[in-house]
Amino acid sequence: MPIIYHEKEKIFQLNTAGSTYVIQIYDNGFLANLYYGAPIPDVNLTDFARRKVHASFCAILPDSTEESFSPDTAPLEIGCSGRADMRPSSLQIRNKDGNAATDMRYVSHRIFAGKPDLPGLPHLYSEEAGDCETLEITTADPYTGVKCLLLYTVFEKHAALTRSAVIENDSENAVEIERAHSFCLDLNRSDFDLISLYGRHMQEREFERVPIRHGYQGVASRRGSSSHSQNPFIALIDHTGGEDFGDAYGFNLVYSSNFRAEVDVDFNNSARVLMGINPDDFGWTLQPGESFYTPEAVLVFSNEGLGGMSRTFHRLYNHNLVRGEWKHKKRPLLVNNWEGTGMDFDGDKLYAIAKWAAETGIEMFVMDDGWFGKRDDDTSSLGDWVVNEKKLKGTLGDLVRRIKALGLKFGIWYEPEMISPDSDLYRAHPDWAIHVPGRVGSEGRQQYVIDMTRADVRDYLFDIMSGVLGSNDIDYLKWDFNRNITEPGSALLPPEKQKEFYHRYVLGTYELMDRLTKAFPHLLVEGCSGGGGRYDPGILYFSPQIWCSDNTDAISRANIQFGSSLCYPASVQGSHVSASKRTGYETKRNLAMWGSFGYELDPANISEEAREEIKTQIADYHRHYDLIHYGDLYRLICPWDDPYRCAWEFTDEAKTKVHVTVFIKLAQERRNFFLRLKGLDPDKKYRLEETGEIYSGALLMNAGLSLWRMPEGDAVSKVYYFEAVED
Ligand code: DGJ
Repeated sequence: MPIIYHEKEKIFQLNTAGSTYVIQIYDNGFLANLYYGAPIPDVNLTDFARRKVHASFCAILPDSTEESFSPDTAPLEIGCSGRADMRPSSLQIRNKDGNAATDMRYVSHRIFAGKPDLPGLPHLYSEEAGDCETLEITTADPYTGVKCLLLYTVFEKHAALTRSAVIENDSENAVEIERAHSFCLDLNRSDFDLISLYGRHMQEREFERVPIRHGYQGVASRRGSSSHSQNPFIALIDHTGGEDFGDAYGFNLVYSSNFRAEVDVDFNNSARVLMGINPDDFGWTLQPGESFYTPEAVLVFSNEGLGGMSRTFHRLYNHNLVRGEWKHKKRPLLVNNWEGTGMDFDGDKLYAIAKWAAETGIEMFVMDDGWFGKRDDDTSSLGDWVVNEKKLKGTLGDLVRRIKALGLKFGIWYEPEMISPDSDLYRAHPDWAIHVPGRVGSEGRQQYVIDMTRADVRDYLFDIMSGVLGSNDIDYLKWDFNRNITEPGSALLPPEKQKEFYHRYVLGTYELMDRLTKAFPHLLVEGCSGGGGRYDPGILYFSPQIWCSDNTDAISRANIQFGSSLCYPASVQGSHVSASKRTGYETKRNLAMWGSFGYELDPANISEEAREEIKTQIADYHRHYDLIHYGDLYRLICPWDDPYRCAWEFTDEAKTKVHVTVFIKLAQERRNFFLRLKGLDPDKKYRLEETGEIYSGALLMNAGLSLWRMPEGDAVSKVYYFEAVED
């Protein structure tokens, strides 16, 4: 049973294959977090709820019969503001009296099979009956009557659970939500390192690891998207932990807007972890009878270090997050014209690329930015989603038909959430651009962001996009987002609701994504934001893959792909071979195969030799598709541990196929080395395809694989592929 309630002890046990999470109801209705970590059988954890209270500076609530109960020291499931808990709070609600004292006490609970929807928000879901169970705990503030429902869904097979909260205003007065985190977790220890993924455009998801310290630390976005700067992901791991050992906790927010992930270590050496909507410039008025749903957070625990944690996220997301027709359908190998032509193309140039692609074995052509309005550079036309027939030398239908006659699928680029100042749309509706009165709007890439909080804007976008998508045989849509939000404000929201803007914006984006993906369920959607600026589970709910980065140089990509793999599976990682210079095509291919593979070039601009080489690269992609997309990833040598080389491995569940890639970024004089593989069956025999040599799993994992056959030089790579053989 994944969720057990022990009536006598008033304890909930949330069990997965690799973790236990224990909650207790205090006698005064506070909810205690007693334990989260490796599986334990115990029910008697009463002492875990107890903390020493330090003198008069930890205020006591006299309504508990506990010897010394202080909200300031108790390990809590909701950390409320203004009620004696001095740590950063997960819930702050300003009431009719104008104060923000918030106090949620247990009222009731229910346990049910499956997982509820979160209206308007992306979320994990039950893939098949019995794969998850939900605990809903209702708490209420005795003074204001406002309720807070805590939702815990346990994915038993995976060591994962999701958490979110629903705030319901059952009172007779409006209240203001000022802070509504998706979860609060008070761990009874703090001997951790904090891992986060920072970056910028062209350098997304760089790995950073620092010991946590007393006090406050965390990462956040205030950009109106999850952002290049910080991914909505953090992990805590034992100071001594690594890829294969140590307690690792991963936290990922299913949200594509401003977030905050906070870790606060108090004087009891207890680490409080919070994650949710960034409270900066956020507020929400809740009228009587209304509810507010927080985004959902995913919590993963592994005592097999970061590797175990990542593999759990990968399986979970492949099964319980990514949806739709393309969830497990083989994605077409594509060529995209962006890096080859930019916006300098016409219908004939695109056709020539497609013709080459078809001859090469590529399966889909994607027409990127520049096909609409009068857009030949990035100064105009976003919003005018009307086909530029002069440029395409015919209708879009003509082009699609010509390209399909080559046997290819057809994809198209959009940036629905943007509006160019130089566009017919802006001239007709200047109020549709996000702006605040009296201030000149900031431009990013000479464009404004369109106001997705508005239903009329979303209807316009749905109609104009549906017109193009519905009247042409289009298979794929790249959904781009190339700047962040500034001067946040909507012309339609009254002043007191402007603080709701950012959250309403992302709800609007999700609504449009939902409408379009429902109207065109066959479309394969690829998320994008100047590369990977909105690379988060919220977007993955609507698009089974996201363009990983605009940086397609294999050397830089190694870091980006390793960082991304902390919680995102290979299947979602859009990664292409481009004409970038620093490595040869084999290495570019070996890197790009770790993901949703494709090419991004104009064959007219590369050598005959390169074109020939590309023809030989494609078979491997088809052959290893399932292994790489859905197999278990082992990071063998990480770029954050070794600046010169890295290596990674995929194995299937049965441990019969093993795909190892070794990448030497910078050759060193002492270049011979041995690479210990991971996750094999020690008793199985594995045949190295290249040489036919047979090794035991035990040898490959303990003595290692000799890499003396690695090519010489800088920026070289090699794939070693093994299959298990009978003795
Ligand atoms: C940014 C994307 O990341 C690129 O791949 C390309 O689509 C451009 N935008 C087009 O403007």
